Amino acid sequence: MEETLHRLQTEAETAFTAVSSLVELEEIRVKYLGRKGLLANTMKQLGQAASEDRPRLGQLANAVKQEVESLFFARKEALEVGSLPPKQALDLSLPGRFVPFGKLHPVTQVMEEICAVFEGMGFAVAEGPDVETDHYNFEALNIPAHHPARDMHDTFYVSDSLLLRTHTSTMQARIMEKQEPPLRYIAPGKVYRCDSDITHTPMFHQVEGFLVDRQVSFADLKGVLTLFTNRIFDGDLPLRFRPSFFPFTEPSAEVDIACVICKGAGCRVCKQTGWIEILGAGMIDPEVMKMVGYDSEQFSGFAFGLGVERIAMLKYGIDDIRLYYENDLRFLRQF
Ligand code: FA5
Repeated sequence: MEETLHRLQTEAETAFTAVSSLVELEEIRVKYLGRKGLLANTMKQLGQAASEDRPRLGQLANAVKQEVESLFFARKEALEVGSLPPKQALDLSLPGRFVPFGKLHPVTQVMEEICAVFEGMGFAVAEGPDVETDHYNFEALNIPAHHPARDMHDTFYVSDSLLLRTHTSTMQARIMEKQEPPLRYIAPGKVYRCDSDITHTPMFHQVEGFLVDRQVSFADLKGVLTLFTNRIFDGDLPLRFRPSFFPFTEPSAEVDIACVICKGAGCRVCKQTGWIEILGAGMIDPEVMKMVGYDSEQFSGFAFGLGVERIAMLKYGIDDIRLYYENDLRFLRQF
């Protein structure tokens, strides 16, 4: 029996080492380790051995069985790993997985850049609510109910007296009624209008700016805006001041910048004019000053409100403003 056990161990070892598939491995396991297998049959003969030999032969049979079993498990593991599709097998030499870095949205990047330029000129930053009262959005800016200028803004109303602000000019009265001049503020934020085409979106960003002091003139406004556009566009884009109308400024102007898409030749973005409007501006109307309790004989000021998406379009040469809000990562990753 001793001889049979040693022989079976050697045979099983040779057989397990030679197998090349899990199916074959199972056949060999059943042959040697199964309940009716060769080792189990040999162990049944233990009862016929002389009583003094039985303990030694029993120990030998168990040791042989354990050896054959551990060989079986080792081969099984090796064959399982080898049988995995190549990409699931563990390859320690592979490089780590690339985790992309998050980035700020291009409009946020431009907004921060705009604020930094004005902060550099001494303007403080203030923020106000997106859901605004009719008073701050219109009344306090010299736009009473039924004034035709309300048509300039296609307003989203929340209730009769609440609305989504249509411009950041709301911050003029909010700040001026709490502070005495001199003051110098910018107010960045989201604004809303029922408007959508290649240069208009229903939600967009503005940066309002205003300065009130003694003897402030239109020349100061021109100086600040020219310095700003030179900084933002690295001084190489022509700009022009066009007379315009806002009920809260007098005189008023709109500022255009040469279209970067067509370099002034005319295209669908600039509606063939060669220019793109980026902001509205003017001298703060004495009526607005009066409503916040300022003496317009002593103080004067200018204000401007610029469209952040328009500036981002010009900076990056984007010909459709809606691209900023389609959440297409192939577009956003370029910034
Ligand atoms: C105003 O909103 C005034 N509050 C600006 C102002 C402030 C004038 C202070 C005087 C004194 P306007 O409606 O033109 O003006 O908008 C200002 C800028 O916002 C525009 O020049 C344009 O760049 C941008 N803009 C206007 N509507 C949209 C829109 N739907 N989508 C994207 N940008 C827009």
